[in-house]
Amino acid sequence: MFTPYYRPRRLRRNENIRRMVRETNLSVNDLIYPLFVVEGSDVRKPISSMPGNYQLSIDLLVKEAREVQKLGIPAIILFGIPAEKDALGSDATKNEGIIQRAVKALKDAVPQLYVITDVCFCEYTDHGHCGAVVEGDVDNDATLEMLGEQVITHAKAGADMVAPSGMMDGMVGAIREALDDNGFEKIPVMSYAAKYSSAFYGPFREAAESAPQFGDRRTYQMDPANAREALYEVELDIEEGADIIMVKPALSYLDIIRRVREITDLPVAAYNVSGEFSMVKAAAQLGWIDEKKVAMEILTSIKRAGADLILTYFAKDAAKWLNE
Ligand code: PBG
Repeated sequence: MFTPYYRPRRLRRNENIRRMVRETNLSVNDLIYPLFVVEGSDVRKPISSMPGNYQLSIDLLVKEAREVQKLGIPAIILFGIPAEKDALGSDATKNEGIIQRAVKALKDAVPQLYVITDVCFCEYTDHGHCGAVVEGDVDNDATLEMLGEQVITHAKAGADMVAPSGMMDGMVGAIREALDDNGFEKIPVMSYAAKYSSAFYGPFREAAESAPQFGDRRTYQMDPANAREALYEVELDIEEGADIIMVKPALSYLDIIRRVREITDLPVAAYNVSGEFSMVKAAAQLGWIDEKKVAMEILTSIKRAGADLILTYFAKDAAKWLNE
């Protein structure tokens, strides 16, 4: 009979030793909670495909932010949904737009909470694309100019960080330049550097009312089949001055997170997107999986793959579970 000499099971015998040799520890410090803000007051409209998530008017957003802050979550990322959409998404670049007023209200009421703004046009345009459409396609360089205007309004409103998600070529450089030229050199840029054209964004598009009205986003978001291209995107964003590099989605792209981790010493963020969240919620509601265990396993796997920060709709639950 073969008797093993090396016995890895020795270090798994009880929870104390397992804790001591644990390589990855998820912390509340890693979490960024996404929130959606709409016009009106006293609005708390459930997002049916994302149980536990709501479109909130500014007054209730502020209340929610207080709760998030009390849970020890350091940051939120904010998405604005305007009352009126038009071809250029003009609400996105107004100092009195929905997101700008929301940021101001948040920074007045809950100044300790770090506020990141999503910088994009798809929630603001009537066609649902992420910039100015010319001849049926998003015009890259016209959109860069609009992005420059947009970030200035976010910075003026008091945003702590901006996060461009539109996958325009040169967006990080254009935004960095606009911020610096206007005295906002202290505001960091978290770039959605490797953002894939993914069906996992389905529920978000209900939440943000941002589904493209024609075509899809494959002329700007990445092909899910590509990995080397993600590294190239990341290198460009680093050259342009990104402070944090994001990979999105997370779960089907753990290999990308790992490879990005290996080519940069900048912090890496991963977006555990709406579809990844909703699948867990749906299966849990059917009684097919244990929501808490599966969610924590997913978040841990994203961190183990190399992410420092995780944007996740599980942030509030995870903060509570981590405290249990
Ligand atoms: C674009 C944006 C999207 C998400 C974050 N920012 C959607 C898209 O590209 O269509 C998706 C987030 C999620 O699915 O949770 N502003």
